[in-house]
Amino acid sequence: MLNTAWVALALAGFAAAQDFSIPSAWRDPSTSTSEADLATDAQNLVGTLSVDSSNGGVQGLGYWQSANWLSALANLDHFTGQTTNQQTVTDALNGAFASYTDFDQYQWWATAAYYAYRAYGDENLLDHAIATWQHVSNYVITSADASSGSISTKNFSIEGSCNGQSMAGGVFWRPTDDDTSVNTITTGLYAALSAFLGEATGDSTYTTAAVASANWIKNVNTNSAGLALDSVDASDCSRSDASWIFTYNTGKYIEGLSVLAASDSSWTSLLENTIVAATKDSPWQGSDGVITEGSSDSTDNDDVGFKSVLIRGLHEAWARNTGNGDLTALVEAYTDVQWNALASLASTQSGNGQTWFSTNWPGPGPSALIAWGQLAAIDVLVSAVDEN
Ligand SMILES: *[C@@H]1O[C@H](CO)[C@@H](O)[C@H](O)[C@H]1NC(C)=O
Repeated sequence: MLNTAWVALALAGFAAAQDFSIPSAWRDPSTSTSEADLATDAQNLVGTLSVDSSNGGVQGLGYWQSANWLSALANLDHFTGQTTNQQTVTDALNGAFASYTDFDQYQWWATAAYYAYRAYGDENLLDHAIATWQHVSNYVITSADASSGSISTKNFSIEGSCNGQSMAGGVFWRPTDDDTSVNTITTGLYAALSAFLGEATGDSTYTTAAVASANWIKNVNTNSAGLALDSVDASDCSRSDASWIFTYNTGKYIEGLSVLAASDSSWTSLLENTIVAATKDSPWQGSDGVITEGSSDSTDNDDVGFKSVLIRGLHEAWARNTGNGDLTALVEAYTDVQWNALASLASTQSGNGQTWFSTNWPGPGPSALIAWGQLAAIDVLVSAVDEN
């Protein structure tokens, strides 16, 4: 009895520590647009870029961005319970996986394949995700690697711990045998993919891997605010610049934590802290809450699409925490701030009935269709469909 009471008090203490209140300075944190109208807008956005079924490439987008576009198509179907995009997504993923072998070191394609499996139940898509997971696992530092100071896929000595924290669970960014960088995005993708695969298959091997990689981010590569830093050099523990704080690193971290916390509540307070930090204490947005990171319309810098990954990660937390109305209200408000900025500040209605989005969410709208602007917008709209 005493123990139970103490635990309840401790949990209440944690819960009270989270400030999920919606900042009053946020611009337009709700929408009156119906879910059905948002879903129609989302499918119209899907129609603005063509997909090459032979290799998965998406019109005007780079390699990893194409996988993110396909991810959003699958998620839109999943959230609305439709199969509108199933053929496009399935053909594109099968084309991509047939065209290249072990090409997906960063797992954007495997993650897309997992989302598509979740949406459509096609085991072949799950197999694509698992094949990539098995390949990438060769680049994950195990506890044994950390102890021995070496890993079979690299030809240099690795530091088993950095700043007193084990490097186990960290995932090398590039496969080249002399590339020393372990980064948060590759590790976060691996943590989230592993957690999803553990859930989908019931095989604890994946969940154990997810836990190790989530712990690497938590212990080795977050700042004092709880936001993810970028990378650590495994040969000498040197770290990326402290100002390299990007939406997608924290976004994938939140996504992985969401899946882990769904079956193990010991992750919940970390998840909650990270959501609050990401939405209210981050360097990537203005005081109005509108994300300003990656705002170049003129050239396709990869970073224009990072923010979409954050919104998708927050959505995963939203979907899995329906019992916490304060948390879901904050995530919904944050998503709506972004969508309202896109819809009213950063878009242009074209003569041919399309809506074009700038990568610069504070606006103005673009004067032509910019594929990477469409990409950055799609997860916001797809998430807004489900959250509103
Ligand atoms: C490690 O691999 C790189 C690239 O393959 C090579 O250039 C380098 O000489 C190798 N270093 C050692 C110490 O074997």
